[in-house]
Amino acid sequence: MSLSLENAAQVARPPEDGLAFLRLSRANEVTLEPGALSTDGARIAAFDSDVSATRRVDCAGCAIVPGLVDCHTHLPFAGWRAEEYALKVAGRPYEEIARAGGGIASSARAFAETSDDDVLAQGRALAREMLAHGTTSFETKSGYGLSVEAERRALRLAAALADEVPQTVRSTALLAHAVPPGMAAGAWLDAIAPLASDAESPATALDIYVESVAFGLDHLARMGDLARAAGRDLRAHVEQFSTMRSVPVALEHGARSVDHLACLHPDDLGPLAAAECAAVLLPGAELLGDERVAPGRALADAGAIGVIATDCNPGTSPVASLPLIAGLAVRRYGWTAREALVAMTLNAAWVLRLHDVLGSLEVGKRADVVVLDAPLEHLPYRFGHNPVAIVIAGGEVVHVREDQAWRLG
Ligand code: NIG
Ligand code: FE
Repeated sequence: MSLSLENAAQVARPPEDGLAFLRLSRANEVTLEPGALSTDGARIAAFDSDVSATRRVDCAGCAIVPGLVDCHTHLPFAGWRAEEYALKVAGRPYEEIARAGGGIASSARAFAETSDDDVLAQGRALAREMLAHGTTSFETKSGYGLSVEAERRALRLAAALADEVPQTVRSTALLAHAVPPGMAAGAWLDAIAPLASDAESPATALDIYVESVAFGLDHLARMGDLARAAGRDLRAHVEQFSTMRSVPVALEHGARSVDHLACLHPDDLGPLAAAECAAVLLPGAELLGDERVAPGRALADAGAIGVIATDCNPGTSPVASLPLIAGLAVRRYGWTAREALVAMTLNAAWVLRLHDVLGSLEVGKRADVVVLDAPLEHLPYRFGHNPVAIVIAGGEVVHVREDQAWRLG
């Protein structure tokens, strides 16, 4: 199979090949020249059209961009929590809902009551929705288990989902998400320690939720030690609803990413931006949870490895569309369309350690390619419109929007 994507208005290419990430202070060096892209099997072969290709695609008026990478989702999970959203909109704070048995605990109950088949069916449907919005790689997390056995089940189901979808999937063990009822936080970390280091686990990263209603800084440090000992990356949910000063602790423990950051302390911004640690911003959770707005502009100006993701989960962000998230980031952080693109492609791939194989359009990289129905600038601007016309994963056409089928001849 070979593809020839021809006559595009824009082809988004990095300023140079071989970059592991692009600090957002350089994102505007991404080029958007008119052109073409051809594939050979699963790889990008050239930035030229190929008249002998198996399939030729008319990209007139379109932007060709890398497949989108959603590096922070909570798939797989069971059910939704619409009633909780209504309470939040009516003014009830998340912490109060969580303390009353809602929040993560309620999704843990749903997860326990739902069969493997039904959890997988919901995950597949969401992966399908993500694909139609351009996501060709995503992260899964455990975290709705709240018992060691149920966390093992979550990791097993995440691996099963990965086998069933066209996307490239990386697994994170969010082993400290909520403190199980009746248990002390420290005792829970003792209980999950063997799973954190389990060589059979598919997880490439460990994650922890640091918050007044969840785990503290000493637990974050301990998770960092567990991650280092297990040869897994440390990731952390930090500074979402309150300023805990988690970032210095996470950096000290070599975190791959710190995620949320709506309440980032101003003194922690410079060190984070200078570090080899991604700042993963989740503007869907910020909007729907009526959280503070993360300092996205300041982080970008300071040269952070800026990333955006959906945080797709049944509580704080039931959102599957990265183009929608990019629209929020551009409006609320004051980012350019190029900054948003880098933040949901190469930099997000770096978080998942996929940057060597995907995340940018380079000859030899995996042919994960999205054709947008208009120039890149329309993606944040036409907020709510899905701009994704055609999705290619590993050189295969895996999604074509109905009204765009004519482009494939
Ligand atoms: O990333 N903040 C902690 N974890 C999730 C929310 C999980 C839930 O409410 O179900 C998040 O926002
Ligand atoms: Fe999250």
